[in-house]
Amino acid sequence: MELKEIKITNASGIYSSTFNSLEDWINAGVDGVILKTSTYRSREGYVFPNVAIDGERIIQAMGLPNPGFKKMGEITKKLKEKYTEIFVIASFTSGDKKELIEMVEYLGEYADALEYNISCPHAKGLGSAIGYDFELLEDMCDVISEHTEKPFGLKMPYYPTDELLKKCIDSSEKADFYTNINSVGKAMLIGNDWGISNKLGGLSGPAIKPLAMGQVYRTRKLTNKKIFGCGGVVTKKDVSEFLKAGANSIQLGSGIIHYKTKKDFVKEARKGFNYKPKNYFENQGIEEWE
Ligand SMILES: Cc1cc2nc3c(=O)[nH]c(=O)nc-3n(C[C@H](O)[C@H](O)[C@H](O)COP(=O)(O)O)c2cc1C
Repeated sequence: MELKEIKITNASGIYSSTFNSLEDWINAGVDGVILKTSTYRSREGYVFPNVAIDGERIIQAMGLPNPGFKKMGEITKKLKEKYTEIFVIASFTSGDKKELIEMVEYLGEYADALEYNISCPHAKGLGSAIGYDFELLEDMCDVISEHTEKPFGLKMPYYPTDELLKKCIDSSEKADFYTNINSVGKAMLIGNDWGISNKLGGLSGPAIKPLAMGQVYRTRKLTNKKIFGCGGVVTKKDVSEFLKAGANSIQLGSGIIHYKTKKDFVKEARKGFNYKPKNYFENQGIEEWE
């Protein structure tokens, strides 16, 4: 399968740290899987509790726990050996050129594509530190494209202004796809049974769907490249709305908590590719997009 044919994957970080959890997604019927973001060295992450749920609002500050890119590369290799048909995307982050070269060359050897996480809202010096430093981002995108033949994309943060979003798109000419969006930092939940150890975390789930769809729409106005919609997808209706907003494909994230199995979630999401609600936008006075 090629990148352009991929419709449904999991989102990075959602049951994607081990071979077995990724295999579960494959057995559930996704077209491709995305591994947990890896860093150059292994990271323990933050102490528990690191996820809190309050109705449709989920916040987490995991602190990017992962065994380092070498171990994640081994999982990627094993997956490709066993599931030749499955598209495997390795996610990684670093703002250091030397580290990045090693990571991209290694992960790019096994993965079908790479997703550069420039948006983790709570890992110091990583993630969103890159997504808001556009000079660094441009340099890093040049480095990635020079060191792999594989397609690569950016896991974007939520950009509240068009100016910031355009800067990101302009700085990443070499990128092949965009994933909109990562969880939205810096959020807090107080008053449920427990908080999170980091106090502030990234907000996920249906609470961010309107922001995610808005950013898909805004990104589509700036580029023809592939866009994965991600953020608050739970039902087929959510999928169809992301597609209407301009996404080509969908990533399934924390919506999994609403399903008994991953298979049920993937089955529902797949229906969204043919789902045409009646009077789609008529209720809002919008018959067709411009
Ligand atoms: C527990 C958890 C861990 C996550 N880890 C990562 C990660 O390692 N890399 C990444 O790019 N995004 C990570 N994310 C963000 C998700 O991939 C996704 O962008 C975000 O949750 C919004 O989608 P959703 O509302 O469908 O969950 C994580 C999210 C959660 C809830």
